[in-house]
Parts: sequence; structure tokens; C-alpha cells
Amino acid sequence: MKAKRYFLAALAALFAAPAALAADLGGEGVVTHAGATVTVGPTQAIFFPAQLSFALWQPSPLWAEVPKPLGEGLPDGWKGLKVAFGEDRGRPQAFIQAPKGTDFYGTGEVVGTLRRNGWQITLWNTDNYGYGTYDSRRLYQSHPWVLGVRPDGSAFGVIADSTYRGTIDLGEDTIRFVFEGDVFPVLILEATSPQDALRQLAGLTGKMPMPPLWALGYQQSRWGYKDAKECLGVAKTMREKQIPCDVMWMDIDYMDGHRIFTFSPQGHPDPKGYMGELHKLGFKGVWMIDPAFKNEPEGKHPYFDEATERGFWVKRSDGKTDYVGRVWPGDCKFPDFLRADVRAWWAEINRRFVSENAIDGLWNDMNEPAVFGGFSHTMPIDNLHGGDAPGDFPRGPHARYHNIYGLNMIRATREGLLRAYPNRRPFVLTRANFLGGHRYGYTWTGDNLSTDSHMRLAVPMSLNLSLSGQAFNGPDLGGFGNRSNPKLMRQWAGFGAFFPFCRNHSAHSPQEPWLFGEETVAAFRVAIERRYALMPYLYTCFRNAAVEGETVMAPVFFADPADPALRREEQAFMVGADLIVVPAFAKNPALPKGDWKVAKLLDAPAEQGPDQAKLLLRPGAAIPVCKPAQHTGALDLANLTLVANLGPDGKATALLYEDAGEGYAFEKGDYRLTRFTVTLRDGKPAVSAETLSGNRPTAVKTVTVRLADAK
Ligand code: GLC
Repeated sequence: MKAKRYFLAALAALFAAPAALAADLGGEGVVTHAGATVTVGPTQAIFFPAQLSFALWQPSPLWAEVPKPLGEGLPDGWKGLKVAFGEDRGRPQAFIQAPKGTDFYGTGEVVGTLRRNGWQITLWNTDNYGYGTYDSRRLYQSHPWVLGVRPDGSAFGVIADSTYRGTIDLGEDTIRFVFEGDVFPVLILEATSPQDALRQLAGLTGKMPMPPLWALGYQQSRWGYKDAKECLGVAKTMREKQIPCDVMWMDIDYMDGHRIFTFSPQGHPDPKGYMGELHKLGFKGVWMIDPAFKNEPEGKHPYFDEATERGFWVKRSDGKTDYVGRVWPGDCKFPDFLRADVRAWWAEINRRFVSENAIDGLWNDMNEPAVFGGFSHTMPIDNLHGGDAPGDFPRGPHARYHNIYGLNMIRATREGLLRAYPNRRPFVLTRANFLGGHRYGYTWTGDNLSTDSHMRLAVPMSLNLSLSGQAFNGPDLGGFGNRSNPKLMRQWAGFGAFFPFCRNHSAHSPQEPWLFGEETVAAFRVAIERRYALMPYLYTCFRNAAVEGETVMAPVFFADPADPALRREEQAFMVGADLIVVPAFAKNPALPKGDWKVAKLLDAPAEQGPDQAKLLLRPGAAIPVCKPAQHTGALDLANLTLVANLGPDGKATALLYEDAGEGYAFEKGDYRLTRFTVTLRDGKPAVSAETLSGNRPTAVKTVTVRLADAK
């Protein structure tokens, strides 16, 4: 009987999912009826399987706030999708039938096409060097979220609330979530457009916290800087070569034997002194902290001893023995970030670390957690986490908490930075994360390679991360593994300069632009100068993400969601709502209809060099730009240019957001949001300005207009 049921289940999973859906959402094969549905917003409902209810549900940390039940059943007039729940070989699953012609996006961070129809993605945070294993369908982060865009441009979104290992299985017009854990609910949101769906997602999972202005600058990193002297030399050469740069990064090389919260006595005897030198040059410094501590005898590392004494380590399945796994420093123990006391302690030691050394931001890596030689590069799934104190996650296996280990680490790291600098916006970069984890940290896409294909795949990858709530993301510019070359560096910088996060990082193979010859230095400089010129617009886009829940980087189809010809475009991309970036490598990109025109950001003719991206400006839009400077702190934000593409009505409008570039006064009104309108008066451009909100005096003194050129 049991064997027969297993067979039926397997068969149903293989063949019957769409058929079962067609059979009025369940009742056939292994498919069970949905349990209750609960309305949680005018266009949002949570569907529960029969075994679960709102009262029994244990919401995961993906939610910024647990949705409030507004009533049983579906919202009035619901025309949206429905969910059927079932089982696949004992594993709970949910099916959603989408209308024919729906295009799927989101699903977080894996390698693949922008349009995700037909893809199977594993949700299991995985250290995956060079994206080389598991067919690159599982990487460092997990996002149980699908964005659907219908042929008419309306959209919907689906969140499956489970932190267990799972699969998102997308057919041409079906969605299936399967998890290796408990039954789970599914939230469906109905949206008028993909932008509306993303705003709703932000309403549920939180908005990206506004980063400090300096974090939008260009950043330089390498795994393998020998010592502080070399790092300072790189910073100085940036200035000599006049390549704008805001941040120098410190990889594990600064540590003593790769042990976290230590400094190499030879290479980094005076971290605070080094930070002082960097600050004088107008740089910030971001330093790496991994999660695991080297397992060493008592008396060697005060924090290790303290954590041991307080029983803070992740336990093996017996619940008593500390788990030991190998990472950079050798055998290590892992803080259990699923416990509130561990997070509070971690925040405190991070507070000390950054404030004692004048460090500006933190880089949390290897927090999937990565364990060398472990099954699927991590710890055993029966290791134990959590506790029963307030704020703890209930005791449970690694299988349940793996995907949110990194999220809970960066949550504590962010808290540490806030405690150290209550008046600054914390900057935490993380490799591992989970849906909603953008509330705590920004992200980069891990260990890519210096190859042409990895350069190209960075676009759809960062786009789908953006479409999964991670607005502030980007790849290692130039590629992390392998050796880069001049052409690759030039091309990558040419469009990479417009990603939300813009950092050149590599593994041991030095990648500073001047190592690739004069032509590369010149092209690199122009690319990065364009980014700095765009800063007033870019910062406004970040404000729109932080305040309105928008994306910073978006697919071209956002320009016209009802145009089916744009749905697969993954070479060109948008920054904000008004600008399309066409990389030099792009062949016949699909572009929106209408009179989009070329926007020039600099005075230099070099802006049209063969490796630079082409920038297209929406008809009727203007963008505020400034003169580039060596770092964001030196930008002249008083004298702006509006690059304008007058629409058919002879007008173009621009938004400009201004604030202190740091701190939280903007939350109390110390900002200014201005709308500029450009028109032609007697054949000459004229500008008017209107304050939309905020009471900060504007810094703007002069505004010049530059009209965009024909395509
Ligand atoms: C991991 C990170 C990489 C870093 C290296 C050494 O591979 O992804 O960015 O350079 O570890 O810390």
C-alpha cells in the first residue's frame, strides 16, 4: 500500500502537476485542497495548505512585518491566481497555474537567462566558485519568490514561506515550489505592473535601507594585497591616475592567520593608522569578517574563549558537542546566529572592532556558511541551532536554518555598526542572504570569473536579484577568478560603471586598471567618471528604492511592460526609470518604442569610445548630472547639468533628491526632493523647479541644460 502510494506520488509529481491543477486545483492524485485563504491586503492573500492555518504558521524572517490578517477568504473581486498544495515523495509542494504567455522573473541569484520560464532553481545557499557546480542553478542566496508578467503588462508575485532547502520549478506557465521540510503557505500578490509588484514586495519584505553616498562610489579590492603599505599605494595611485574611487577593501589577508577579529602583526600592525591615511585621501575602508572562528586552545583569542564559555557555537545533532568544520584558518567553530544572545554578542564585538579601528563598513563572506569538504560545501543538515529565549529561533536542524544563517549574521553585524556609529548609515556587504535580507545588507554576486561569458551573464543575474528585492547589488567587476585582460577590463568597466554596486575585486590576480596599459586606464577613467557624473541621478534612484521600494537596476521591459518584444532583453538594462544602458558588447538589443536619445554625461569626446556603454534617455525625461570628482565627498553638487530629451509636448522633467549623504536626519525632513521641468522658450531651454517635499535648503546654485542627441 505504502509502495503504491509512493509510486503514485512520484508519478503525480512527474506528470500530473498541471493536469491536477486543471482539475480545479487539487482532488486528484496527491494534490490536496488548499486550506484557508486569508486576505492580507487589497491585492494580497496568503494561501494555507490543509494542515496549516494563520494561527499555526511560524513566519520566516523574510517578512519585514508579519502580514496582518484582514479577513478570511480572498480579497473582494479577486481575479488573481490560486494555489493548490500537494506532496512530492513526502515533501510538501505548491502549484500555481499562471495564464498562458506569462513571463517569469525573480527567483534570486543563479546563472541563467533573465526570463526564467522552464528553469529549475535550487534554494540552498551554496558557495560555488566560478559558478562551476550544480549547473550554476544554486548560488549564495535563496529567494523563494517569482515575479510573473502577463502579456498585457499586468503582473503578480508569489512568495513561498519556507527556509528549508527547496526547488522553484518553472514550466512555461506553471510554478511549483517544493521544500524538504514542513508544509508552508504561499502569498500571492496581484499587481497592475511589474513595478507595482516590486513595490508590493518591498511593502512585505522591507525596503532597502538608504546607504551612505560614498557606497555608491567606485570601489577597489583584491584578495592578495600583501600589506597596508600596498593598499595605501593602490589608493594613492588611484588619485595619481585620476580614477575616481571611494573605497578600499580589506580581504582576509589583513588577519593574523585568517583568524577573524585579529590583525597580521607584520602586514597590518596599525589598522587605525592605516584608516587615518585612507581617510585623509578621501577613501573609506571596508573590512572582511567571516562567520567562523578558528578552533584553538584557550588563551589565544578572547572572543573565541568567551563564545566557548557562553556556549555560543552551533551544535552537532547530539545537541551537546560543538560542531567543527574547516574554513580559511583551519578547523573552526561557528556562532549560532539563530540565537538572540549570540547576535547581541556579535553586534558588540563588531562594534568594538569598527570603532577601535575607525573602520567604515563590513564585508561578511563565507556565510552560507561555507565549510570546506562538507557535503554541498556546508555543515551537516542535522546540526542544531536556536534556543528558547525571547528572540531565538526555535531549536531546529541546520536543514531548516541553513538558508537564513547568513541573514541572521548580517542582521547582527548591521546592529554592531549602528551601535558604533549611531549617526551613520551602516554599510554591510554579504555573500549569503535570503529573501528580505536586503533589510540588513547589500550584496555582490560572489566568485565569478574573468571571462567574456561571466561579464555578460552579470546583467541578467543582477537584474533578477534586483527583481527579488536586492536593489543594491553587483558583480566583481573584471571578474574574480582567472586572469583578466585589457579588453575585458575596458568593456566590463564600460557598462559595469552603471551597476548599483561597482567594485573591482579579484583573487590574487592583480586587477588595478593601470596594470592593463594606458588605453585601459583612459577607458576605465572615462567609465568611472561617467558614474560620478551620474551621481545626482543615481542617488535619486537609490532614494526611490529606499523610500518607494523601487529597483535601482531594472530590465528594459520596465520601460514598457506591455511590449512583448522587450521581455527577453538581457544585454541592455535600465538604471532608474529614465535611462537605458547599452553595453558595448550588446548586439541588436531590443529597445522600447519612442524617441529615446543618447545622453552624454561628460564633456569629453572619449565618452563615445568603443568600450563605453551607450546611454539612452527616455523621451520626456531629464537627468541631473554633475562634474565628476575623485570621490563622492568632493562632488560639486551646486552646479548641475540637466541632460534632457524633450518629449512630444516639448517638455522634460527630472527628479533630484538631496540630503546629507549620510546619517538619518533625512528621516526627519532634512532632505529635498525637487522636480525640474525643462522647456524651450524662444528656442532656448528654460528650467523651472518645484520642491515636492523635504525642508533641507537645496545645494543647487546653477542648472545648465544639455539636450540629448538623436540615437
Ligand atoms: C571568497 C569570496 C571572495 C574572497 C575570498 C577570500 O571566495 O567570495 O570574494 O576574496 O573568499 O576571502
